[in-house]
Amino acid sequence: MEIEIAFKNAYQKLKNNKIKSASIDSEILLSKAINKSREFIILNSKYNISNDEYVRYEEMINQRLRGKPISYLTGKKFFWKYEFFINEDVLIPRPDSEIIIEEVLRIYKKKKKINFLDIGFGSGSILISILKERNDFRATGIDISSGALKVCKINVNKLCVSNRVKLIKSDIDKFFIGKYDLIISNPPYIKKLDLKYLDKDIINFEPEIALNGGLDGISEIRKIIKKSSELIKNGGKLILEIAYNQKKEVKKLLKNNSFYVNSVVKDLANNDRCIISTKI
Ligand SMILES: C[S@@+](CC[C@H](N)C(=O)[O-])C[C@H]1O[C@@H](n2cnc3c(N)ncnc32)[C@H](O)[C@@H]1O
Repeated sequence: MEIEIAFKNAYQKLKNNKIKSASIDSEILLSKAINKSREFIILNSKYNISNDEYVRYEEMINQRLRGKPISYLTGKKFFWKYEFFINEDVLIPRPDSEIIIEEVLRIYKKKKKINFLDIGFGSGSILISILKERNDFRATGIDISSGALKVCKINVNKLCVSNRVKLIKSDIDKFFIGKYDLIISNPPYIKKLDLKYLDKDIINFEPEIALNGGLDGISEIRKIIKKSSELIKNGGKLILEIAYNQKKEVKKLLKNNSFYVNSVVKDLANNDRCIISTKI
């Protein structure tokens, strides 16, 4: 079957099912199914794909119809400056989380040797992007999920930072190792009862452990702040991603745990997204 026809069939199927990104999704999945670049697909509309390739393509399109996010189908997600390996054991990295990286680079403008901890590394997208920007930095990452540990190890090796990172599978509650100049975290922060209102693409496919912030949405943040106050050096920075409506509660928690709140950074949609504090 010609590329052009395979593409049109898939596009129509996705469009009829109200998938907004029908065109780009059809193109990306075709590129994956026949193992050729998207440029190749655009430039070779009359190229014949094999039956096996078309079956593979249809299967992926059907999974997309059931809501499976494109990153889980392709096994990759571009974040910051790099392509990360992704599977359903990890959250798909979100552009909003790049604020943490921007803030780290702003705070540590001049190259300085620091040792930082990432709590809940997931795919490793934030931790690895920071290491790529600063050759003198070293990192420890912890995550409660063994699936995330496997994914992050793949990315650490793929992006060549394995000599500067230590990854540990642990619950933050049970982690006691080291004293850090900087602690970062994008924790689960959605209220348990609000999970059902998330898009079906998210709640049916992304790991609940990466999303569920307990009944009040801040149960993991509470643990992280308490633990960070023990794991951080005096004068060290704690940078946390938060939900748009958690600023007040999180500021209070930080103050109660001897952190001075430096600033709250908004995302592109003008929502409070990231809170920066210093251990005093
Ligand atoms: C919102 S995801 C963030 C993943 C990644 N840092 C990112 O930004 O894409 C939160 C991560 O925290 C981990 N996590 C949840 N509860 C945890 C806990 N109690 N201790 C350690 N990690 C935890 C989850 O497994 C998940 O990978």
